[in-house]
Amino acid sequence: MNEQIEQARALIAARATLRPRVGLILGSGLGDLADELDEATVVPYAAIPGFHEPKVPGHRGELAIGLLAGQPVAALRGRSHFYEGYPMPEITFPVRVLRALGCGTLLVTNAAGGLRSDWRVGDIMRITDQIFLPGMAGHHPLIGPNDDQLGPRFPPMVGAFTNGLVPMVYEAAGALGIGLREGVYCMLAGPSFESAAELRMLRALGADAVGMSTAPEVIVARHSGMDVLAFSLITNLALPDGPPANHEEVLAAGEQAKPRFAALIRGILSLM
Ligand code: HPA
Repeated sequence: MNEQIEQARALIAARATLRPRVGLILGSGLGDLADELDEATVVPYAAIPGFHEPKVPGHRGELAIGLLAGQPVAALRGRSHFYEGYPMPEITFPVRVLRALGCGTLLVTNAAGGLRSDWRVGDIMRITDQIFLPGMAGHHPLIGPNDDQLGPRFPPMVGAFTNGLVPMVYEAAGALGIGLREGVYCMLAGPSFESAAELRMLRALGADAVGMSTAPEVIVARHSGMDVLAFSLITNLALPDGPPANHEEVLAAGEQAKPRFAALIRGILSLM
């Protein structure tokens, strides 16, 4: 894999002179933030070996390198999902490339269903921990021979979301008047939304939000020694007695919350 990472890195570095410090994964609806980079270089995923074109409406496949709030970033617009049929190491390959480009931090966002009845659509949750159900069931990006040059065989995940950047999150949110939620994100394979019994199970497991991404990317980022900040936009309430979730409502909530979410990310970057 190292060779393929290097190929992708070299191709991107040959096009962009800026050396990014922060990698951004822009989830459903947030992709347009990639259009707001200054001095941007945009590389379509189709041109990067090992990257996949996203097939889901609302996702466009581009890597944008540029300045956001004065910070050199590499933004992944669109991501691959496990439900598209890709193996976990392919889903997480872009994170390896962000690391190889020089990013020491991964800021990852997603759309998620809120499992708490006291939460509202449009809430932003800082992910404080995760439950990676497909990983626990054997679909894990680090299964197979370990490349010690990329990271350790047995990377710890306790404290994966705790680092020196967290106070900046609250400072930025406070300055913007954004009240953040905090909680545990549970990743499922999807693509079906959860049954009522599954939603009850997730709540009993200690999850606060549920989605179909992020956990494998976080693991690979931690494996490669990156600090992680992760946020879920609550795009729908996923309650056993509530109305069933649908993709249109997820996209609509993303669209509505975009300015606030984007302001938060800019605010955090400006403090880093
Ligand atoms: N379930 C799973 N994934 C999701 C949801 C949900 O309710 N909302 C957005 N992504």
